[in-house]
Amino acid sequence: MLAEIISGNEISQDIRTELKLEVQKLKEKGIVPGLGVILVGDDPASRSYVTAKERDCEEVGIYSDDNRLPETTSEADLLALVEKMNNDPKIHGILVQLPVPKHIDSDKVLNAISPEKDVDGFHPINVGRMVTGQEAFLPCTPNGVLEMLKRKGLETSGKKVVVVGRSNIVGKPVANLLLGRGKNANATVTICHTGTADLKAETLQADIIIAAAGQPNMIKADMVREGAIVIDVGVNRIEDSSKKSGFRLCGDVEFDTVKEKASYITPVPGGVGPMTRTMLLFNIVKSAKKHNGVK
Ligand code: GUN
Repeated sequence: MLAEIISGNEISQDIRTELKLEVQKLKEKGIVPGLGVILVGDDPASRSYVTAKERDCEEVGIYSDDNRLPETTSEADLLALVEKMNNDPKIHGILVQLPVPKHIDSDKVLNAISPEKDVDGFHPINVGRMVTGQEAFLPCTPNGVLEMLKRKGLETSGKKVVVVGRSNIVGKPVANLLLGRGKNANATVTICHTGTADLKAETLQADIIIAAAGQPNMIKADMVREGAIVIDVGVNRIEDSSKKSGFRLCGDVEFDTVKEKASYITPVPGGVGPMTRTMLLFNIVKSAKKHNGVK
């Protein structure tokens, strides 16, 4: 089987067009959705993610307050900036780009963000709300994966999903969302990780594989059942001297061989990445509406 490639770029564009209209309507009511962005240090990948997120905001009409702080910023100063944004009515969402430098406790920072402005969905209150099926800000990558499957008309109900990776940002929440009772969830979910005894035996059972381990090309064709759906969340930088930047992006899935076996596959770049960024915009608009009592 030769897989259909799911374009995260195309699906994202559809959602962004919808969001742009919503933002226009909010602006007519005098409401400008705003995102506070904080990046500590100068990790090149983080820098490019943050720049892309701010460009996305501009594209749909969201105001962004850019804060790039030196690597040496103290935890106290970072917490003080978060608190200032918690109290700033122009800011409806706060994004502290992860990872933060080692001398800063990331849990402390994430816990300091008001749950009502937590557009990343990382605060334990939002995680708890999500897990118990209550209204919450959903984390952007997991929500992007679900939205992608939904808009592609790919059912998850009753399907066997194998998630590879147990991070707090992707593996655990995407498994939890797919476990929910909703129409676009209701799956039988297995989470695999470095302690899994026989990964291949697990992935071969899957109707849907979600690869989120952060290991370049780890999912090979012999680990995939004929006709499975393969969602690649990996974003790995591989050295490549033929590129101007000196690197190329590669996913957790060996795309060229797996696409011969899967029914659907997401590419890297242009798959889950743009969906993540789009769901962030969705959460900011949702927050701006909530803060202003707009339905
Ligand atoms: N680092 C990697 N992914 C993310 C994300 O979705 N949000 C934030 N804040 N940091 C990240």
